[in-house]
Amino acid sequence: MCGIVAYIGHRQAYPVILKGLKRLEYRGYDSAGVALVNHGLHVYKKKGKVADLEDTLVGKDLQGSIGIGHTRWATHGEPSDRNSHPHTSANGKLAMVHNGIIENYAPLKQELLNKGYTFASDTDTEVLLKFIEDIQINNECGLEEAVRIALRRIVGAYVIVIVDQDHPDTLIAARKGSPLVIGIGKGEHFLASDASPIVEYTKEVVYVNDYEVAIIRPDELILKNLGNERQTPFITKLDIELAAIEKGGYPHFMLKEIHEQPHTIQDCLRGRMDPAAGTITMAGVQNHLQQLVNAPRIIMVACGTSWHAGLVAEYVFEELCRIPVEVEYASEFRYRNPVIHHGDVIVAISQSGETADTLVAIERAKEQGATIFGIVNAVGSSIARQSHAGAYTHSGPEIGVASTKAFTGQLAVLTMMALKIAAAKGTIDVKRYQHLCAELAAIPEKVAAILQKTDLIKKIADKYKDARDFLYLGRGYNFPVALEGALKLKEISYIHAEGYPAAEMKHGPIALVDDRLPVVFVATRDSYHEKIVSNIQEIKARKGLVLAITSENDEVIPTMADDVFSVPEADEIVAPLLSVVPLQLLSYYVGVAKGFDVDKPRNLAKSVTVE
Ligand code: F6R
Repeated sequence: MCGIVAYIGHRQAYPVILKGLKRLEYRGYDSAGVALVNHGLHVYKKKGKVADLEDTLVGKDLQGSIGIGHTRWATHGEPSDRNSHPHTSANGKLAMVHNGIIENYAPLKQELLNKGYTFASDTDTEVLLKFIEDIQINNECGLEEAVRIALRRIVGAYVIVIVDQDHPDTLIAARKGSPLVIGIGKGEHFLASDASPIVEYTKEVVYVNDYEVAIIRPDELILKNLGNERQTPFITKLDIELAAIEKGGYPHFMLKEIHEQPHTIQDCLRGRMDPAAGTITMAGVQNHLQQLVNAPRIIMVACGTSWHAGLVAEYVFEELCRIPVEVEYASEFRYRNPVIHHGDVIVAISQSGETADTLVAIERAKEQGATIFGIVNAVGSSIARQSHAGAYTHSGPEIGVASTKAFTGQLAVLTMMALKIAAAKGTIDVKRYQHLCAELAAIPEKVAAILQKTDLIKKIADKYKDARDFLYLGRGYNFPVALEGALKLKEISYIHAEGYPAAEMKHGPIALVDDRLPVVFVATRDSYHEKIVSNIQEIKARKGLVLAITSENDEVIPTMADDVFSVPEADEIVAPLLSVVPLQLLSYYVGVAKGFDVDKPRNLAKSVTVE
């Protein structure tokens, strides 16, 4: 979490940093700040969103062609002006921004307190900066060397960027465990937590690796490891366009991203699946096909929405490939002592590719000899780079904090992967394989048809927006969709919502049902259909309000439900790609009706790079 932007070159730094921070607000919006060097160090910071900072800076001296900026998701210390970044050194000459957590900050702080340092904030960041300053004084060394010495003693994750008023031609940055991209311009450099603040200035970027320190001047980029050895910067070309990270006429990124799904799913299938020829081309799967086909077990590791995609995949892989699948929360898996057998394949699923728990989980699994297959959206991200093989979801930048198009992209990749493995393993017959390829290929058009009916969902959202609680129920492939629907509603509308397997409801949650409880049934036509019809009757018998997501032409459920939203017919294996879309829209419209900032829900951040 937290977004970092920095600039050094021939332009005014402030406008570049401000625009970049606005693009990175999805990473946190508890406070924002900038530090500029121009005949001295000028630091401005404010609790609240980047726009609040901008308002307070009208009329201030914002000159300078070197600067750093930060948008914060609070970890150590409540959101407040004093805990905002940048933090400054005791001598007032250095300013630093930080993304991550310094785990051993407490003993370091004690050491510094004993030496007489005082602290203006509750943050681990200020501790690290003063620790660096102290090393500089004791060792009589330059900032670069002091940073390297300090970082060798740091436990935790960080990206830091430091400006020094005595050296207004140099930025010092370093990374471990959190992302840092450096854009290379002509006589200028741009630093950011992801490429979105950089893409309009340059397409040439360097992704800084863990344990690297960057010394950046307008015309020079030097990378070193913590042992002071020069590293060769590996320059890659960005393939995102500016339009992809702007709202394009939609009131919110979330709505834009929901509506992009016909295209993003198509982009995910494009060049991979050829339903006419019956082929699926996925280099990452092909290169590890024997390992995947012979895997005694697949373990899906992910968090949040990506974990829900893993749950759908569990059903799909077990059905089609006959490989046992376990789905693990990365945050639990990494702290356990999980049993990993020879040949097990770990599938790590992540939109951002930077989720700290998922990243560490795969590092642990790698140490035990597992093969890691990454399913990631953000190209060049840490999880993509840490995986042995993988497949990108090609969903484009996802800016809205609630994940939507990345989820359907993950489902599309996982389904293609399962089909390819099943075909190689001989666990699927040709007819079913071809049928499922055709069903998957038809999804983009069917999602487009669902999006034609947003007005109906909006009406339903208005009707239920004041409910205190929601229950989401589904069976089989639609059970994870019920979990995802409940998560979306919680995030965006702050309404308590629970997802459950529909049959499990009888074992407890049914006690919640009364005439004020909306129960959302994800009940598209599948092999469980009759069973879920019975579950709907059980809810109606207790006067619950039923909102059903059904398949078109379902004649039974509409006679029982209070409200119905139908989606096109589809094979049950690909049905979650459709049934989730009205649930995304429902949460969006409930959130909007309640007047909340759906792109920046409270307490959340897009990329959870803390553990
Ligand atoms: C929910 C949401 C989160 C993420 C989770 C994992 O809308 O966005 O639950 O799914 O933080 O993030 P990634 O997929 O980036 O690893």
